[in-house]
Amino acid sequence: MNPQQLSVEQRVSQLREEIAKHNYAYYVLDNPVISDAQYDALYRQLLALEKAHPECVTPDSPTQRVGDQIQAGFQSVTHAVPMFSLENAFSHEDLQNFETRILERVTVKTIDYAAEPKMDGLAINLRYENGVLKQATTRGDGTTGEEVTHNVRTIQSIPLKLLGKDWPQILEVRGEVFMSKKTFEQLNQNQLAKGDKVFANPRNAAAGTLRQLDPKITAQRHLSFYVYGWGQISDDWALPEHYDQVIAHLKEWGLPTNPEAQVVTGQAGMQAYYDTLLQKRSELPYEIDGIVYKVNRIALHRQLGFTSKFPRWAIARKFPAEEVWTELLDIDIQVGRTGALTPVARLQPVAVGGVVVSNATLHNMDEIRRKDVQIGDTVIVRRAGDVIPEVVGPVLSRRPGSTRLFTMPTHCPECGSEVIKEHDKAVYRCSGGLFCPAQRKRALQHFVSRKAFDIQGLGDKLIDQLAERDWVKHPDDLFHLTLQQLAGLERMAEKSAQNVIDAIEAAKQTTLARFIFALGIPEVGEVTAKQLAQHFRELDALMQADSEQLMAVPDVGEVVAENIVTFFKQPHNEEVIRGLLEAGVHWPPPQVQAVDEDSPFAGKVVVLTGTLQQRDRNEAKALLEAAGAKVTGSVSAKTDYVIAGEKAGSKLTKAESLGIPVLSEQQWLEMMGENNG
Ligand code: IVH
Repeated sequence: MNPQQLSVEQRVSQLREEIAKHNYAYYVLDNPVISDAQYDALYRQLLALEKAHPECVTPDSPTQRVGDQIQAGFQSVTHAVPMFSLENAFSHEDLQNFETRILERVTVKTIDYAAEPKMDGLAINLRYENGVLKQATTRGDGTTGEEVTHNVRTIQSIPLKLLGKDWPQILEVRGEVFMSKKTFEQLNQNQLAKGDKVFANPRNAAAGTLRQLDPKITAQRHLSFYVYGWGQISDDWALPEHYDQVIAHLKEWGLPTNPEAQVVTGQAGMQAYYDTLLQKRSELPYEIDGIVYKVNRIALHRQLGFTSKFPRWAIARKFPAEEVWTELLDIDIQVGRTGALTPVARLQPVAVGGVVVSNATLHNMDEIRRKDVQIGDTVIVRRAGDVIPEVVGPVLSRRPGSTRLFTMPTHCPECGSEVIKEHDKAVYRCSGGLFCPAQRKRALQHFVSRKAFDIQGLGDKLIDQLAERDWVKHPDDLFHLTLQQLAGLERMAEKSAQNVIDAIEAAKQTTLARFIFALGIPEVGEVTAKQLAQHFRELDALMQADSEQLMAVPDVGEVVAENIVTFFKQPHNEEVIRGLLEAGVHWPPPQVQAVDEDSPFAGKVVVLTGTLQQRDRNEAKALLEAAGAKVTGSVSAKTDYVIAGEKAGSKLTKAESLGIPVLSEQQWLEMMGENNG
C-alpha cells in the first residue's frame, strides 16, 4: 500500500515496526541493513508524526526511550523468582569436582554445557507483559532489587516491545548490563574534560550509570546488554528442552545474546572453551571475568536443584583477575636518561592478570595528584592482556589514618644534585646531567643501543659494573676499555671480553645520523637525527646552529631546537664529543639527498596509509619530505597521491572514490629511486 493512503495510526505503527526491525538487525544480528542516516530519517519521520498527533504516542514507541522526568529515588522490588549467584571455580580441578557432583545425582553419563563469557557488569531482570517492557530491576541482594526501568529503557539494544507473537504473556529475562571498553574510555575522557571524577573500570561506570536519577544522562552513556537467563515465565509457553534453545527464542524475540556462547561437552569441551576465550579476552570489546557453564538440559536443572546459595547446574570459572587490591608500601624515584624523575609505586607483591607485580610506574606528579594515591593506601592495580601494570587509584573506603602524601625530592636521590621542575610541564628533572650515576648508566645504555652505536654484548648488567667501577663515566671512556679490565669482571670469559672489545672497535665506524642520535639529546629521536645529519652535513655546523637555523629542518620545532642548543652549550657535552672523535669515532660524509626538484613528489600532497613493509612510517615520511612532498593525515580532493601499505582501510576507500592515484609501497619506492629494499 502506498504510504499516502494509510491512516496516521497505521503509518505510525508501520514506522515503529520498521525501526524495531532495524534495531534488531543492528544490535542483535550485528548486521545492519540500512545506514545510520537512513535510520535517523525514519526516526525523524516518526517523531514528526507523533508531534503532530500526540494522541498516537504510546510508551513502547522508540521515541519514548528517554523520559523527561528526573527520578526522586529508587523503589524496592521483590523478585518473582529469586536471582541466584554462582559458585566460583578457580581451577580445572574445581570444574572436575563440579561435574563429579552432577554425575552422582543424575543418570546420564555425559553432560553438555551451555558456555558463555561471564560479563563484568550488573545483573538485571526485565519483565515483559504481553510483549511490552514493564519493569527493570537490579539484582540487589537476590531477593529484593531496585527498580531502574527509566534508565534501562534508554539502552538501545533492549526492545521496548518484543518482536514476533509467540512469546508468553509474562516473560522475565535476565542478563548483564555492561559498558563496552570503548564507551568507557570515551566516558572517562569526557569526565576528565569536565573536571569530573573518572570511573575506575567499566563495571563501576555501568553501575553508576544505571543508578543515575536523570535518564538523559544514562542515555548519553550508551550501556549495553546481553541476555543469559530467565525468571518468571507464564505457562502459556512450553519451555524447550535445552537452555540454548530458550536463548535462541529470546534472540528471535529481539533480545541481544552473546555471540561467543557455545554448547560444549564434558571436561574436555569446557577446557577447550576456556583456553580459546582466555586467548580472545583482550580483543573482546567488553570486559569479562570468566566463563559461566550451565548444564544444557533443563530437565537436569530440576533434578539437581539448588544449594542454599547456588544452583547445582551452573558454575562460574574465573579468569585470573586483571584488577586486584594491594598495599602501596612506598613511592620510589627512578632517574631516567635525560634526568626525568619518575615516581614508581612499590607494592605488596600481588598476582594480577597471571603475573606477580611488585612495582608499577606512577608516571609523574600530576598523575599522583589526579589519582589521589597516598603512601600506605590500599590501591587498585590493573594489568590487562600484555599491558604493563598500572595503579588505577586508591580504595578510599580502606584509607587508614596513617597515609603519607608523596612529595618530589628537592635533590636527586642518586647524585644529590638539585631537582628542577620544568616550566609548564609535569616533569621534574635532576640537574646533575652526566655527573649523575643513574643518568650516566641510562645514557650509556642508549649510546650502545641498536639504533645508536649498536655495540653488541654490552648489556645493562655489564654497563652497571663498568659505571660502578668508574671505568666508564662517559661514552668516550668505552673506547679506552682494555681486554684485561673486561676479562676480570664477574661472569666474563676471555672470549666474551674479546667479543665486546671487537664490537667496540668496529663501532668507531658509524654515520653522522647515528652519532647525533646516540648523544641522547632530549626529544631527538632516530628520524630527527637523520634529518639533522642531512641538513647540516657536518657536526660542527650542527653544534653551532642557533634555534632559527635548527627550525628550518623538517620536524624540528621550538622545543626540540631549544633542547639542541642547550645540549651543545654544556661544556661537559662538548668534552665528551671531543673525546669520542679523539678515540677514533668517524663517519663518511652523509649521502647527498637534497630536495630533488625533479622528484615526482616535489610539491605534492601525499597520504600514507596501512602498514608498510620496507620502511617504517617515520622513515617514509622523512623520505617523502626530503623529496619535497607534504605528508598529511587525511585524504581530500587536494591529495595528489595515496601510498597504501597492507591492511589499508577507509583512507584507501576514500582515495578510490575520489579518483586519487593510489601507489603500492613498491611502486612508490621505485618512483623514489629507492627500490633496492
Ligand atoms: S548466569 C543462576 N550467565 O555473574 C544463574 N551470570 O555470579 C545466574 N554474570 O549475578 C547467573 N555473565 O551478574 C550468568 N553469562 C552469564 C553471566 C552471569 C555475568 C554475572 C551475573 C550474576 C553473577 C553470578
